[in-house]
Amino acid sequence: MSPDRPLGVFDSGVGGLSVLAELRRALPGEDFLYLADTAHVPYGARTDEDIRDLTARAVAALHARGAKGVVVACNTASAFSLTHLRERYGSGEGPFPVIGLVPAVKPAVAATRSGVVGVLATPGTLRGSLLQDVIRQWAEPAGVRVLTAVSADLVPLVESGRAESDEARAVLREVLTPLRDAGADQLVLGCTHYPFLAGSVRAEFGETFALVDSGAAVARHTRNVLCGAGLLREGGAGGSVTYLVTGDPERARPVITTLVGGAGQNTQVMQVST
Ligand code: DGL
Repeated sequence: MSPDRPLGVFDSGVGGLSVLAELRRALPGEDFLYLADTAHVPYGARTDEDIRDLTARAVAALHARGAKGVVVACNTASAFSLTHLRERYGSGEGPFPVIGLVPAVKPAVAATRSGVVGVLATPGTLRGSLLQDVIRQWAEPAGVRVLTAVSADLVPLVESGRAESDEARAVLREVLTPLRDAGADQLVLGCTHYPFLAGSVRAEFGETFALVDSGAAVARHTRNVLCGAGLLREGGAGGSVTYLVTGDPERARPVITTLVGGAGQNTQVMQVST
């Protein structure tokens, strides 16, 4: 497999763009194929089987388009699919690396002063085993209490370009107030859509919580995996991103353009089926 091929990045929608930004910083020589399954977002309220099936189709579509590996930039998809995908495509060091996400409980546990960490996630991620695994691995031995908050409304708000709206603030106020009242000083953003809500969280809660996400850590890990697999591309022109969506590209284009900070640019968005 040639290192010159693009790296696939997948999310149920536009949330993975928060991870893509970190990947582009850490891997400036890479070209990227970003696939948003906008015809089926949100995944968070779907069944386990549905999430697994949609994720498998999306990863297969990236593989078929020549990606050299995939970053599953979605906590919900990772929670239900990583084992299956790795069985199918090989492990992180295999011929087609599949890299996933877990909520950033580890750094939040290391940073908390109050001993209470909040996790904001989709219903799917809360149900999946990956979150429970990291709580058992990092929070329990340190005696840190983890409180979870869930909402099925936040992903659709980000998808429709309303991350900075009164509606988003109202939802955040409702779901995060109990965490603040319980003394949480760290808020793990357990969904890749949520870094785009940082402004709204700050507007409601000021500096109450340090916001912690996994974007930078997964980008560093991806670099190591590509390096280990002989797939790292350095020195080339690199840096291009092809945006693929399964839903209406005209609907997705303005939201993608805003979230990648490309106001005024003509972002190319292509429709694909998975
Ligand atoms: N960005 C996805 C995540 O990290 C959102 C899941 C959804 O579509 O509900 O979980």
